[in-house]
Parts: sequence; C-alpha cells; structure tokens
Amino acid sequence: NIQACIFDLDGVIVDTAKFHYQAWKTLAHGLGFDFTEHDNERLKGVSRMRSLEIILEIGQQTLPEDEKLTLATRKNEAYLEDVHRMTEADVLPGVRRFLEECRAAGLKTALGSASKNARLILDRVNLLPLFDAIVDGTDVANAKPDPEVFLKGAEALGVTPAECVVFEDAVAGLEAARNGGMRCIGVGDVTILAEADFVIPGFTDMTVARLQQLGH
Ligand code: BG6
Ligand code: MG
Repeated sequence: NIQACIFDLDGVIVDTAKFHYQAWKTLAHGLGFDFTEHDNERLKGVSRMRSLEIILEIGQQTLPEDEKLTLATRKNEAYLEDVHRMTEADVLPGVRRFLEECRAAGLKTALGSASKNARLILDRVNLLPLFDAIVDGTDVANAKPDPEVFLKGAEALGVTPAECVVFEDAVAGLEAARNGGMRCIGVGDVTILAEADFVIPGFTDMTVARLQQLGH
C-alpha cells in the first residue's frame, strides 16, 4: 500500500518553468540566437549545466568549459531575482492543501528535484515544514531518468519504492520513477505524460482517497 508521496518541484509545486525560460531566453539572445517555448520543453527536469548544453546545441555553438560555467552562473543569478520575489501565493493551486491532507492521513512526504535551488524556493513559499525529506540537485550524481533522486527520497523516509507515488510534470521524471520501481502520477498534459499511472491537470481535485485507489 501507499505510504509516501514524492514530489518534483518545478512544474508540480511551483510554476518556476516560466522563470527558467525567461532567464535562458535572455542568455540565448545574448549569444545571438532565439530560444522558443517549444525548445523549453526539452529542459524540464534537466540539470542546469545539461540545460545550457542543450541551448548551445540549439544555437549551434560550442564554448569552452569555463565560459559555460560563467554563463550558467549568470543565468542562475537572473533566475534567482525572480525566485526572491516569490511568495506563498506562488504555490500552485491545491498543492498546500494536498500536502496537508497527506500528512494528516499519515503519509510521508518528500521532495525529489533536480534543482540546486529547491530548499531556497520551498523556504520562499513557506512549504519547508510540510516535507519530511528533501533530496535535490545538490544531493545526487545522476540526473532523471536515473531514479537516484527518488530512491534517496524513499530511503530518507524509511519506505520501499513500491510504497511510494511520485508526482512529476516531466517525461524524464516519470521514467525515473518507473526505473526506481515506483508508481507515478503525471501533473499536466495527458498527451505528453501518457506513461504515468494516471495524469491530473493539477492538484485542485487531487485527494488522498484518489491516491489510495492506485494502491488497489
Ligand atoms: C529542474 C527544472 O527541476 O531543475 C529544470 O525542471 C532546471 O528546468 C533544473 O534546469 C535545475 O535547476 P537549478 O535551480 O539547479 O538551476
Ligand atoms: Mg518538473
């Protein structure tokens, strides 16, 4: 039966994808090419450095490693300006209520994110107290679809993968959950997230009762 929920951050708990997108777009323009919203889909769930490499591929540019590091740092500084303006109001609809419902029902909660800014963001939106464990981009060596981030989350919670359900908005994240032997719920567009056990448009109608149906 289900004992724990593990949540991705960007695109599941908060809509930071738009901030990432703006910061990467500015960077691309600075290098002399455009970066579209369509291209941005490829960056979901992907680490900062890998994101930069994908963008440079799109712009058909190759840069030395030290310049890449400088660009990634600059992008992150621009991104953090938006993050610092976030408040509790930036938590996506229904998320706080669902987290509270999980905890009231005795389910454990963890965060499993590729972001190195995860703790900062959860603090900004005042959600830190609702997580029993946080595993983020500073804790893992292998990016999704490798299951490391979710397996570490389960371990920190003291539950088995089979007892976990992962909430993800990225295909690489769903694959990471599967690769770790966990069930997964897609958050977003059913045509993109078809490999999930089921897909919800958001948390507004999500309940623990619905979650427990997955366990039967
Ligand atoms: C993921 C996002 O959660 O975190 C990616 O989906 C992002 O778009 C990645 O690049 C890394 O984030 P950060 O905050 O460490 O740059
Ligand atoms: Mg995501």
